Amino acid sequence: MVITVTNSKGGVGKTDSNFNLGYAAAINEPDKSVLFVNADNQKTLEHRFGRRKSNGFKDLDNVTFDNCTAAALKHTIPRYKELYDYIFIDVAANSESPLVS
Ligand SMILES: Nc1ncnc2c1ncn2[C@@H]1O[C@H](COP(=O)(O)OP(=O)(O)OP(=O)(O)O)[C@@H](O)[C@H]1O
Ligand SMILES: [Mg+2]
Repeated sequence: MVITVTNSKGGVGKTDSNFNLGYAAAINEPDKSVLFVNADNQKTLEHRFGRRKSNGFKDLDNVTFDNCTAAALKHTIPRYKELYDYIFIDVAANSESPLVS
């Protein structure tokens, strides 16, 4: 399942919401795998994930796109869908193209 909490406005809690939902999935369904896709050049999600990774979740991963494009997401997400039960995508407010994709 691919989930993204997104909005065209900045600073409204997109990253925190994706992060918290991802951890909620990992905690509540430990047999399921979770991937965070960081498609925001600020890399906020990656930084938060980096601080928490050592908490012992083995099926919780992060992948970061530099200069993410809609084409990159469209090409890559279907492949990740075969590997992970839940995918949470964090997209920047101002990146129209990945946001729409
Ligand atoms: N539910 C909430 N209640 C109060 N503060 C929150 C809530 N969710 C996030 N925040 C705070 O709001 C600020 C912005 O959150 P966050 O980084 O998740 O927003 P964002 O929409 O991803 O921002 P950006 O557009 O820069 O990517 C942070 O300081 C965060 O701690
Ligand atoms: Mg953010």
